[in-house]
Amino acid sequence: MTTQQKKINAAKMALKRIRPGMCVGLGTGSTTNEFINLLGQEKQLLKTLRYASSSIQTETFAKKYSIICEDIDQFNQLDVTVDGADEVSRQGEMIKGGGGALLREKMLASISKDYLIIVDDTKMVDYLGDFPLPIEIMNFSPNTTINLLKKAFKAYHLDPEIILRVNSDSSSVITDGGNLILDCHCGQILDPNLLKKKIEEIPNVITSGFFLNMISSVFVGDEKGSTEVFFE
Ligand code: A5P
Repeated sequence: MTTQQKKINAAKMALKRIRPGMCVGLGTGSTTNEFINLLGQEKQLLKTLRYASSSIQTETFAKKYSIICEDIDQFNQLDVTVDGADEVSRQGEMIKGGGGALLREKMLASISKDYLIIVDDTKMVDYLGDFPLPIEIMNFSPNTTINLLKKAFKAYHLDPEIILRVNSDSSSVITDGGNLILDCHCGQILDPNLLKKKIEEIPNVITSGFFLNMISSVFVGDEKGSTEVFFE
C-alpha cells in the first residue's frame, strides 16, 4: 500500500460529505489534489458547487476538471473546506503550511462551517513539532523577526533553528500573498496554544502554521480504508 493510496482512502471519505449546492473550500497539497481528482469524476455534482481555493497551485490544478474557483470575498461562509495537514495531534491541534499556503488555508478554515482534514496515517502524532513550524511574515526584515521569534520560543524553553524558506536557486520563497516563510525546527511542543499567541504577537508575523481548535473531523487514511476522528 502506497502513501498515495492512503491519501486517496482519506479523500474518498471526505467526498461523501459533499452535497449538491454546497460552497466548498479547497486546501493545498498532494492529499487535497487526490480529493479534487475524485471530485473531478463526479461530473453532475461538481457543476452544482461553488469553490474557493487556498492557493494559485490548487486553483490551477482544479481547472483541469473545469472547477473554477472564485475569490474568497465572494463568500460570507463556506459549507465545508477540505484540506491536508503536515501534523495532527490526538487533541486535534495541527501544523500546516509545508506547502506555503498557510495564510489562505487559515482564511478558508475561518469561514467554514465544517473543516475536514484528510491525511494518511503517518501524519497523526502524539505531539506537534517534529515537522518544522512554518511562520508567514511580511517581506521585510527576516533577520530581526528571527531574533524576536527566538526570544518568544525561549520563554517556552524552546531553542529552534529558524530558517528562511528558499527555492532551489537560493532565492526566497514568496507566498501567493507576496510574503516570506520562516521554518522553525522546534522538536516537541508541549503547549501550542500559549506559544501560538506569543508568536502571533510579533508585529511582523502574519500568521503561524498552528491551526488550533479549528477541525470538525479528520479522515485518516490507512491500508484498510479510512477512519473518522471527531473533534468538538
Ligand atoms: C500547504 O501549505 C499545507 O498546509 C498542506 O496542506 C500540507 O503540507 C499537506 O500537504 P500534503 O497533502 O502534500 O502532505
